[in-house]
Amino acid sequence: MSQALSTQAVVAVVGTGAMGAGIAQVAAAAGHPVRLLDNRPGAALQAIDGIRAQFEKMAAKGKMSAEACAAAGGRLQAAEQLSDLADAALVVEAIVESLAAKQKLYSDLEAIVSEACIFGTNTSSISVTAIGAALKHPERLAGLHFFNPAPLMALVEVVSGLATDPQVASTLFATATAWGKTAVHAKSTPGFIVNRVARPYYAESLRVLTEGGADCATLDAVMREAGGFRMGPFELMDMIGHDVNFAVTRSVWNAFFNDPRFLPSLVQQDLVDAGFLGKKTGRGFFDYRAGAPKPDPATEALQTLPGHIVICGRSPAAMALSMRLTAAGVAFEHTNASDGRIAQAGDAVLFVTDGRSATQRASESDVANTVLMDLALDYNKATRMALTCASQCSPTAASAATGLLQACGLKVSRLADIPGLVVMRTVAMLANEAADAVNLGVCSAAAADAAMRLGVNYPKGPLAWADDVGLKAIRDVLANLGTSYGEDRYRISPLIQRHVYAKRNIHD
Ligand SMILES: NC(=O)c1ccc[n+]([C@@H]2O[C@H](COP(=O)([O-])OP(=O)(O)OC[C@H]3O[C@@H](n4cnc5c(N)ncnc54)[C@H](O)[C@@H]3O)[C@@H](O)[C@H]2O)c1
Repeated sequence: MSQALSTQAVVAVVGTGAMGAGIAQVAAAAGHPVRLLDNRPGAALQAIDGIRAQFEKMAAKGKMSAEACAAAGGRLQAAEQLSDLADAALVVEAIVESLAAKQKLYSDLEAIVSEACIFGTNTSSISVTAIGAALKHPERLAGLHFFNPAPLMALVEVVSGLATDPQVASTLFATATAWGKTAVHAKSTPGFIVNRVARPYYAESLRVLTEGGADCATLDAVMREAGGFRMGPFELMDMIGHDVNFAVTRSVWNAFFNDPRFLPSLVQQDLVDAGFLGKKTGRGFFDYRAGAPKPDPATEALQTLPGHIVICGRSPAAMALSMRLTAAGVAFEHTNASDGRIAQAGDAVLFVTDGRSATQRASESDVANTVLMDLALDYNKATRMALTCASQCSPTAASAATGLLQACGLKVSRLADIPGLVVMRTVAMLANEAADAVNLGVCSAAAADAAMRLGVNYPKGPLAWADDVGLKAIRDVLANLGTSYGEDRYRISPLIQRHVYAKRNIHD
């Protein structure tokens, strides 16, 4: 592994908007002299004022000493023109997201900087290989992809194009690490790691919504309270802005030659067409205008606890229900289970979803009163659980299953009988996408998991999560979704298939 750039090395940041200013702040705080250049008059000085104000805020909160604050602020210098960057050891660009603009900037810079100077583009979606194609020395260029806001987000993707010198990627990796970030290596493929692997987080919920599985507020609540995600997909898309989120989905879909795995959603297209871009326009999936009510998630009314409860088997879901019932002082029996059931409540039989609808599963197993539960990040800690009942299930059985989960202290959201509920199909597809990225050499399994934890705050890396759920269970969910929908979208990554056959975890 290469050494990080010395703190004496001059770092230039070109483009001092949201990202460039954040990156300049990180580099100055780490001890580098930083030159800031922007083609908008006054923008670099404005960015410097903003960064110094940030340092002062940190000093006021005791997160930085007064000396460190003054020293870091003093390392920032506005540049007037490209030639002022001649002594830079690293030029990070965070200019407009345009291939032509980035190519021109770096090819102009090649005539100015030393041969040893390395280039780190902060592009989120343009091929690093394509930017490098305009350079005399494309080997000196790599992606240095920070997340917004750069001073707070821990992740940096170091992205190698076809011509990138591994030493350059290694130096950038070490430098980002020295700057207090967690760096991950990635190959320059569409979406790099995070923007590719995150697509199903939005796509699966959008599909459940489109199929009438539940409304946005309910799906968000299930994803937060059972899935452990910080924000539900709909509130998150509203926050990001549908124009931005839809553009990323479209660009990844286009870049993969319209692979159905990344197919954009017509529901989101409609929001963009309507100008309902989310919080910033006052309307998206939710209504943010003054006085608009915030919709509550659909939660089942309290049901009577059935007289006879049996917990079946020792799966994490079954064990959590038994712990929760014990804590609530509810009596139950415990038996083994040969068909994967986790509980019986009165006439109802509960299973965790395997990607089939409850109706299909009831029909295939001859258990009419089939009730399916969703995946939870931790069944012991979840506060809400989604369930769905087979068409054949009696209302009494549905009520008994609901009563059992409520007795366990869970709020219950009943979804229409879509296959795979919502947390399970989302996690299975996130893991599938991460596995495919690993299988195609984009990144390591550890990098994929770190990227998703740190780049988008997932509660667990998708591959570690799949290992915990059981890779075979994840494979079955994907296979059943594939059969239900008959779409290539749910094709299973060969990496997951191989590991299931080898009876190994991804992280073994
Ligand atoms: N905003 C994000 O969440 C985010 C996250 C990661 C990466 N990115 C990427 O970072 C880059 C910048 O994004 P941003 O959100 O900071 O944009 P921004 O619009 O806030 O800032 C871009 C800045 O670059 C300047 N600029 C444009 N062309 C220039 C040129 N040729 N030379 C010098 N300055 C120029 C503009 O005046 C502006 O100040 C883009 O490539 C974007 O895809 C953005």
